[in-house]
Amino acid sequence: MEGTGSNRPRNRGDRAGTTGGKRRRASAPLIAHGLKGIVVSTTRLSHVDGERGELLIAGIPLAVLAPNAAYEDALFLLWHDRVPTPEESAALRGEMAALRAVPDTTLRLLRAAAERAVPAMDALRMGVATLSLIDPAPGDDSVAGNLRRAMSLVARFPTLVAAFARMQEGLAPIEPRTDLSHAANYLYMLTGSEPAAAVARALETYFNTVVDHGMNASTFVARVIVSTRSDMVSALVGAIGALKGPLHGGAPGPALDMVFAIADRARASARSIADEADAYVRETLAGGGRIMGFGHRVYKVRDPRADVLAQAAVELFARTGDHTLYDMVRTVEAAVVRTLAELKPGRRLETNVEFYTALVLHGIGLSTALFTPTFAVGRAGGWTAHVLEQIAADQLIRPDSVYIGPRDRTWALSA
Ligand SMILES: CC(C)(COP(=O)(O)OP(=O)(O)OC[C@H]1O[C@@H](n2cnc3c(N)ncnc32)[C@H](O)[C@@H]1OP(=O)(O)O)[C@@H](O)C(=O)NCCC(=O)NCCS
Repeated sequence: MEGTGSNRPRNRGDRAGTTGGKRRRASAPLIAHGLKGIVVSTTRLSHVDGERGELLIAGIPLAVLAPNAAYEDALFLLWHDRVPTPEESAALRGEMAALRAVPDTTLRLLRAAAERAVPAMDALRMGVATLSLIDPAPGDDSVAGNLRRAMSLVARFPTLVAAFARMQEGLAPIEPRTDLSHAANYLYMLTGSEPAAAVARALETYFNTVVDHGMNASTFVARVIVSTRSDMVSALVGAIGALKGPLHGGAPGPALDMVFAIADRARASARSIADEADAYVRETLAGGGRIMGFGHRVYKVRDPRADVLAQAAVELFARTGDHTLYDMVRTVEAAVVRTLAELKPGRRLETNVEFYTALVLHGIGLSTALFTPTFAVGRAGGWTAHVLEQIAADQLIRPDSVYIGPRDRTWALSA
């Protein structure tokens, strides 16, 4: 998409020591630009099969887990590497519900951020950083201590996002409730009313869908940070920074904007949605842009998360009986995939999770500004699980680079 910052020029060389086309050394190492295809660790948390379009969350197919599990149970699965018993499930819900409140200092900072109208992801990043203030035992690096920390941090993500969202609208934040699920309480804190069960379910399905996804960029950042034996708060702060970018978690807002822009164009031109979508893709690519919600580093077929969220959207929209937006999204999707295949043959650019994220979160009633922070609320579970896994592995992640700068510069300060 134009102007999203997603079109920075890339270094296309893949062999070290090449400058201006001249090779320096015949034995120069291969460089995996962007770490494409590089495996940096093992994990028991999720398995992504990009060719078959499959995603397993700790051994359970996403299509089974996402629409059926409570988000807290998905967290238990990731944190403990097994399905909880009903007692363990209830205990975790209770423990996390009791950890939702955030300190006044944090709320004051969020208020200052809202007054300056900073983006919600920046507010979340700053808010999470303040949670070091309430760590009861900062020096406790035991497994139990880190698990408690994971619970305490994940429990507070919704409170931070909801409080900031309300402050931005000039409204007072709403205290969390302890009798609602993680998902339902998030919506309650945003709106002040208890959500309908189907709406809370849709959000819970969304959280489960995005809870973990292999070695994605933000998860990698979190693991790199704790690999230096740094702390979990620092890891989450870094991960939020990585998720914010339009090539990662920042795509669903622009994806929905695109659908609405195409619909507006179709209304104005009296052409079909499919024709306008086709024209939109051609224009965007001709301008050097990308289509948000399409293409993926790992998936070369349709992202399985898109299917899960498309189904969640069907169920969500069944409540109102209005399928107009859903039908429009499907039409745009088919046209975009067709035109991308024509313009970018062989790149295998299919629908990714963000396209349907936009539809589900919009259907739930969230503003586009909340799409990426809501992604962070769900992904926080996976980040903490990876942090725990990385702490257990205890190996510094430190790749290498190849110097391609000058070697003969002289040192002289300019006058
Ligand atoms: C996700 C993404 C960053 C993966 O990128 P990647 O694995 O690094 O792939 P590359 O950037 O090397 O792209 C390969 C080719 O496909 C093109 N391409 C990739 N995604 C594209 C998109 N969404 N729209 C148009 N072209 C795209 C690139 O321009 C490139 O074309 P080229 O070979 O002619 O230069 C990329 O597909 C993208 O930018 N998608 C849109 C943002 C998005 O939806 N992000 C959410 C991901 S879940």
